[in-house]
Order: sequence, then structure tokens, then C-alpha cells
Amino acid sequence: MTEPTFGKSGVEPAAPPTQIGGPRRISVFISKGGTGKTTMSANLAVGLASRGRRVLLVDADPQGGISAYFAIPPTPGLAELLSGDSIDLVKVRENLLVLTAGGKRLWSVARELENRDAGYDHLRRAFARLSDLDYVIFDCSPSLGFLNYNVLEYTDYLLIPVSLDYLSALEAVETVNEIRTSTELDEVRILGLVPTFYDRRTRMGRVLLKMIRDHFDSLVTESIIRTNTKVNEAPSHQLSVSEYDPHSYGAADYGALLDELEERCRRLEAPKPL
Ligand SMILES: Nc1ncnc2c1ncn2[C@@H]1O[C@H](COP(=O)(O)OP(=O)(O)O)[C@@H](O)[C@H]1O
Ligand SMILES: [Mg+2]
Repeated sequence: MTEPTFGKSGVEPAAPPTQIGGPRRISVFISKGGTGKTTMSANLAVGLASRGRRVLLVDADPQGGISAYFAIPPTPGLAELLSGDSIDLVKVRENLLVLTAGGKRLWSVARELENRDAGYDHLRRAFARLSDLDYVIFDCSPSLGFLNYNVLEYTDYLLIPVSLDYLSALEAVETVNEIRTSTELDEVRILGLVPTFYDRRTRMGRVLLKMIRDHFDSLVTESIIRTNTKVNEAPSHQLSVSEYDPHSYGAADYGALLDELEERCRRLEAPKPL
């Protein structure tokens, strides 16, 4: 079998953020569905909250994956916030609030905003009055359109879950290139590419993991999320995998990822030596 290739050159390592203070704003995004974005957003948000961090989890996907994960009934959310209407923040855990997408209406609201003017600072303005938070985590839809430009423009950090199949790996290269070359998104830092759906018994999984590491180098997290049925079952109980089965691989993987991400944030935010 020939080894698959990306056919693209490498990328620069992430530069440190220019903006310090306020909550850490993290978008979980890649231009591909089914790579574990919603799962990662929910598990990280619950994990951070259980560590005492004050977290707002924003469902920025009109499909409403986060509402489904936590079985939240229809609630005014991001669509209403962007329209200037009132919203409800839903408390799903101690320290964890959810802003729902506000349903499919989010697409039409985004389209209206896009038609009215250009500019990607709608979210920045809508979120300006948020305070007393340590993290804002956005679960994004898988396309780099107007809505996600707004989300990413407001974001400090981008987290890219890359499922270990060839098409997702290619999409990760595309997504990183798009972000890197977009003048509107030049403030966004890549916090990490996180390999997901890893199965070390399959050769393809091992080959793709090596390719991704060779290509993206230290942008790839040490932590890897393995395929684990407990991760898949947890949302049907509205639980994170660590709550559902603390002894599972999934719980171990997400625990390690949390440690690593907080450490990566600290490193990127540390003042540079003179
Ligand atoms: N590590 C994992 N092991 C097994 N199943 C997973 C894992 N991560 C996610 N899944 C499952 O894969 C499906 C797609 O995940 P999801 O988070 O919805 O992807 P996305 O938001 O990128 O479309 C869901 O059914 C989810 O439960
Ligand atoms: Mg999703």
C-alpha cells in the first residue's frame, strides 16, 4: 500500500496571543462534520467546570448539537443574542452555563446580518457585557462561512479535532491554511490539533497520526482521543464521559487533554523573557 500524503507544505508554529485578560475564548472548529467537535466541546466544558473554572458553552451550530447533548429544550440563544433580543443562559452544572444556538433560526439571523453589512464583529459586540467567566467555548458548525467568521473573530484560540481518517486529515490542512491566510482572523491562535477516533489496532490510524505529527509538529497535542464506546454513550445520559464512566479510556483521554490545554494556554500567555 502506498503511504497517503497531504501534498502540502508545513505550517508555522502558533504565535503567542496578543490579547491577555478576560475569559479564554476557545472555538472548536474544523470544516468537516463528524470529527468529534460537539463531543469535545461538551466534555471539555464539563471537565473545566468540575475543576472550578467558570465556563460558558456556546452552541454556535444551528444543528444544535449541544442542546441535544444536554437535552435542553428550545431556548432563546445565540440567534436571539445576535438579533438584539433577550436570551436565557441555561445552567447545566455548577460553574457551567450553556447559550443554545436558538435553533435553525441562527442560519437566517446570520444571513440577515451578512446581507446588511460586512464586518465580523457581531459576536464581539454581543458578548461585550459578559463577565465573571474563565472560559467561553464555542461548538462550531463545520463550514467557514459568515457565522463562523464572527465566532472566530471573537476567539483567542482554535482547537481542531482531527479524526484519524484521510479526508479529515486533509481537511485539517485546509482549515489551518484558511485560518492562517485570512486577514480577518489573524488574531486567532491555534491552541492545538487534537487527534480523535484513534484506534491503534488499525494501520491507517497509526499512519495518519504520524503524518499529522510530521506535518503539524508541535501544533498537534500529545493527548489523543481514542475511539471509545463510553464517549459515544455518555450523551444519551446527558453526561460527560468522565461522569458516565470515570474509569473508561475516554475519561482518561479527556482528563489528559484538559491538563494539556490549560498548560498550552498558560504557555502561550506567559510574558516573553526580555
Ligand atoms: N472518542 C469517541 N469514541 C467513540 N465515539 C465518539 C467519540 N467522539 C465522538 N464520538 C461519536 O461520534 C459522533 C460524531 O461526534 P460529534 O461530536 O457529534 O462530531 P461533530 O460535532 O464534529 O459533527 C457522535 O455520535 C459521537 O457520540
Ligand atoms: Mg457537532
